[in-house]
Amino acid sequence: MKLQKWLPCLLLLLLTSSALGAYVGVNIGSDIYDLPSAAYVVAILKAHQIGHVRLYNANAHMLEALSNTGIEVIVGVPNEQLLRIGRSPSVAADWINKNVVSYLPSTNITAIAVGSQVLTTIPKIAPVLVPAMNYLHHALVAANLNFRVKISAPQSMDIIPRPFPPSTAAFNSSWNSTIYPLLQFLRNTNSSYMLNAYPYYGYTKGDGIFPIEYALFRSLPSVKQIVDPNTLFHYNSMFDAMVDATYYSIAAFNFDNIPVMITETGWPSFGGADEPDATAENAESYNTNLIRRVLNGSGPPSQPKIAINTYIYELLNEDKRDGPISLKNFGVFYSNGSTVYPLSFSDSGQSTGNSSAVFCVAKDGADTDKLQAGLNWACGQGQANCAAIQAGRPCYLPNNLKSHASYAYNDYYQKMHNAGGTCDFDGTAMVTAEDPSYGSCVYAGSSNTSSGAGRSSSSTETIAPVGSFGASSNLQVTTLQYLISAISVFFALMSL
Ligand SMILES: *[C@@H]1O[C@H](CO)[C@@H](O)[C@H](O)[C@H]1NC(C)=O
Ligand SMILES: *[C@@H]1O[C@H](CO)[C@@H](O)[C@H](O)[C@H]1NC(C)=O
Ligand SMILES: *[C@@H]1O[C@H](CO)[C@@H](O)[C@H](O)[C@H]1NC(C)=O
Ligand SMILES: *[C@@H]1O[C@H](CO)[C@@H](O)[C@H](O)[C@H]1NC(C)=O
Ligand SMILES: *[C@@H]1O[C@H](CO)[C@@H](O)[C@H](O)[C@H]1NC(C)=O
Ligand SMILES: *[C@@H]1O[C@H](CO)[C@@H](O)[C@H](O)[C@H]1NC(C)=O
Ligand SMILES: *[C@@H]1O[C@H](CO)[C@@H](O)[C@H](O)[C@H]1NC(C)=O
Ligand SMILES: *[C@@H]1O[C@H](CO)[C@@H](O)[C@H](O)[C@H]1NC(C)=O
Repeated sequence: MKLQKWLPCLLLLLLTSSALGAYVGVNIGSDIYDLPSAAYVVAILKAHQIGHVRLYNANAHMLEALSNTGIEVIVGVPNEQLLRIGRSPSVAADWINKNVVSYLPSTNITAIAVGSQVLTTIPKIAPVLVPAMNYLHHALVAANLNFRVKISAPQSMDIIPRPFPPSTAAFNSSWNSTIYPLLQFLRNTNSSYMLNAYPYYGYTKGDGIFPIEYALFRSLPSVKQIVDPNTLFHYNSMFDAMVDATYYSIAAFNFDNIPVMITETGWPSFGGADEPDATAENAESYNTNLIRRVLNGSGPPSQPKIAINTYIYELLNEDKRDGPISLKNFGVFYSNGSTVYPLSFSDSGQSTGNSSAVFCVAKDGADTDKLQAGLNWACGQGQANCAAIQAGRPCYLPNNLKSHASYAYNDYYQKMHNAGGTCDFDGTAMVTAEDPSYGSCVYAGSSNTSSGAGRSSSSTETIAPVGSFGASSNLQVTTLQYLISAISVFFALMSL
């Protein structure tokens, strides 16, 4: 089935959870020329033990590929569909039936993100936002899924004009008539406020006012501690300050018990001549420190007990995105599966279980000479244990090159993956989530083997893309102008 329309697709990556249940996910836009298949995207998620995914839309290929994986999924209602849903309960019900009911429970859809930064991206349709959420919710109630699937609407930091100091932050009052019912909806349905927060823009638009350490979660010199003068809370990172600004803005409406979830945050690894801070080093630093920060399980200073569940923007670089060069370079991976920079989706908690197993096998139709060379290399220099594919041993039959190469490739991959070993073999190998074991032939990494292969770190893995999952991102990352006005206030604080 072909997709009629290219729609934004945002995957949330839920990494391993901390003891307190905090998790980090990753967004995957799909505005990519050589778009990989849904199966390939899911293979990357599994290879990195990513347990949660968010789609910007409800792409059927992705939702199918995610079924029976244990990965939790947030689907998205694209902005383009919002007007019709917000005007018609029956359109909303159709949407739920087609995109949610028909996939549950094999695809674990846990939330619906309604629109993308609607207030700042297409303010004209703001009046239908909450009605759309209500109609979608009614449809979930009718399907008896409202306790299982939550509804929220990601918003940009831009709707908080002066986020610093956090204790005095408030939503721009021109949005009162949308924000108030939105918060009411979230509280009544026990849902989270979805926030897109980018310290990258906070830092770069700050024109040097903010130290880069503050944006990158690095420790600040003692003379530059950032303190809210009203609460005396110390803010170790701009990320924490943005989250707290949102909590205080919500509190200004007298709502509490609405957790803030970060639906997007990230740092570009490359940019134009006027974007000197978009470097792989900064991106790696930001995301590494972010993961550590979030997985420690604590909340921001004003809400220390509420973990900041977060989705990194984004999994794959989107080379088709318009705008500044940096917008094409937020990915942790290139679309061909090579890592842009190493990022350890640190495995500090429970693994997601057998569902995250990934194997490396020979591709169908791979060139015979290359396969033979790959097999020889794996069993020789690669030091794979090839005993099982010798005559008379459990994996000898079927006695063909593809089967033997698969066994050897996988053995090599399971042993060497953490040390940077790749599943490539001159393009003849691919990763798969399907356990290739059969009969008494047990592949390394299979849940039947005791020598479990840890797969907690990334490195320079390469996985071959196939086909396309047909969805693209039109995510807007708007300039955070609020910062400009905030700078003078905040500047004074930095000398405290
Ligand atoms: C789906 O995700 C929810 C939320 O984490 C979890 O409680 C539930 O067990 C998952 N369901 C399945 C079938 O994996
Ligand atoms: C609040 O939003 C309105 C409408 O978008 C905008 O014109 C105004 O400048 C904003 N106020 C502040 C303080 O940013
Ligand atoms: C929200 O949480 C409260 C308290 O835990 C519970 O009583 C209520 O049923 C929940 N409502 C929904 C819609 O989840
Ligand atoms: C909403 O708007 C009015 C005026 O536009 C303002 O006075 C009020 O403080 C705003 N905020 C809340 C939380 O009602
Ligand atoms: C978690 O991170 C916060 C913010 O950086 C910090 O204040 C807190 O001490 C950390 N907690 C632990 C247990 O490391
Ligand atoms: C993947 O793409 C990147 C960027 O285009 C390129 O630098 C890298 O060499 C490619 N990797 C492979 C294995 O083709
Ligand atoms: C996961 O693995 C354990 C043993 O390693 C096994 O008992 C269990 O049945 C497996 N679960 C699934 C869903 O395969
Ligand atoms: C695990 O091993 C047992 C006995 O060797 C076998 O019966 C079973 O099918 C294997 N399971 C898998 C998933 O390979």
